[in-house]
Amino acid sequence: RLLIIDFGSQVTQLIARRLRELGVYCEIHPFQNVDDAFLDAFAPRAVIFSGGPASVLDEGSPRPPARVFDMGVPILGICYGQQVMMQMLGGRVERGEGTAEFGRAFVQPKEPLDILEGWFDTDREQVWMSHGDHVAEIAPGFRVYATSPGAPFAITADTERHFYAVQFHPEVHHTPRGARLYENFVRMAGFTGDWTMASYREEAVQRIREQVGDAKVICALSGGVDSSVAAALIHEAVGDQLTCVFVDHGLLRLNEAEEVVGMFRDHMNLSVIHAEEQELFLGELEGVSDPETKRKIIGRLFIDVFQKYADQIEGARFLAQGTLYPDVIESVSFSGGPSVTIKSHHNVGGLPEKMGLKLVEPLRELFKDEVRALGVELGLPRHFIGRHPFPGPGLAIRCPGEITREKLDILRKADAVYIDQIRRHGLYDDIWQAFVAILPVRTVGVMGDGRTYDYACALRAVTSVDGMTADYYPFSHDFLGETATRIINEVKGINRVTYDITSKPPGTIEWE
Ligand code: XMP
Repeated sequence: RLLIIDFGSQVTQLIARRLRELGVYCEIHPFQNVDDAFLDAFAPRAVIFSGGPASVLDEGSPRPPARVFDMGVPILGICYGQQVMMQMLGGRVERGEGTAEFGRAFVQPKEPLDILEGWFDTDREQVWMSHGDHVAEIAPGFRVYATSPGAPFAITADTERHFYAVQFHPEVHHTPRGARLYENFVRMAGFTGDWTMASYREEAVQRIREQVGDAKVICALSGGVDSSVAAALIHEAVGDQLTCVFVDHGLLRLNEAEEVVGMFRDHMNLSVIHAEEQELFLGELEGVSDPETKRKIIGRLFIDVFQKYADQIEGARFLAQGTLYPDVIESVSFSGGPSVTIKSHHNVGGLPEKMGLKLVEPLRELFKDEVRALGVELGLPRHFIGRHPFPGPGLAIRCPGEITREKLDILRKADAVYIDQIRRHGLYDDIWQAFVAILPVRTVGVMGDGRTYDYACALRAVTSVDGMTADYYPFSHDFLGETATRIINEVKGINRVTYDITSKPPGTIEWE
């Protein structure tokens, strides 16, 4: 496996993505955690130093342990990683007054180099630079293989020891042949690219068995991709030692509870408790219209309910969670400072300590699309795996103002028509998330010869990569017109349809 030492670059995760795409298993670890003992235990076959915001000229700036250079394994240093490598090996780095370089740059070859195979079909190659300081003198043993106008040492290497240092970021999209550089690097390091989902599945099953032994495991199944895949994987590992609890808070979509519970029980043979607690949740939410209060009530009740059902499962010692890799990577923060709570997210974070349970998190090493691939491996239906994300507080946050059963019923029907439209037009997979919000206003309309006074609703559809930023989806006017007509005709209680064209930021994806 390959070790990525993280010095705090914004794009470190992309390095891992590129490598996984090449069938190479790698892990990112923050530099603070990497000491001699760690290196020995990890025994990497190759190491990559990420970029980072610090300056190697500052006192106490982050470094890898010197031992990494004595392990006899190939090392690739990127940006800050390049500078730290140069400095530790006897080169010199200078402050970047006037020589900082950000954005597109072009490097020119000087000599052929193994990791640059496939580069330089023309006499220059586009790369993405982002550096303040620069290398002023390369370390003994290194030679220059490519230069750029702002970086005379854009690509240097010590080919004897297989140390490579690049000033730019090969992992980003704007370095078009960056993936090729990584591919050359890992092949040279001896990786064959045989890391697949099937092998991950086998390893993960072994690890779960070792961790859990013959103890019982409980899992809060939400029907979302992450908890579903985690449950399926753990079930494969320990069978009936796993019990899932599906909390039905009455804020689910049309037929959702039946579909999820049915699929896991009948199709996947899991033991699932369907906790029908609609009355409890909807009762406590009655008359509440403040978004944060709604979220807090739902979060608190969820934990209570889950605990109540979990307590009935005798001998449960583990709680399964579908934590993903992006949630795990400890970010290397240099600025610190509190961030503002926009919305309090709903999760079972505090549960394990409260209940004295240990965590099983079999997806901790995976990215979202890898989790989907694993789900397919495990036999979950593709349409299920490809579903849009659905928030923990459910329809509550798509129903601004007071939540009533009547509004929820109308919302469920409208949402089902909208999603059906999207699927019929073949747009579902192009959209990150789509849903209807029912608005707390009634408007006047005319249907047939009569007056109507019904709810207005808003359609939402966004494109996004990670939910952090988003843009509205550019439906055609025909699509929007047809969908509005269908909703108004098919859903009693709605007489007006609007389309939400707010991006995030400044909007959020959900309405509350
Ligand atoms: P916002 O509305 O913050 O949503 O732009 C970003 C993404 O997160 C989902 N979301 C949640 N997911 N618990 C969840 O599990 C929550 O409390 C929650 N709130 C929002 C939202 O659906 C979108 O995908």
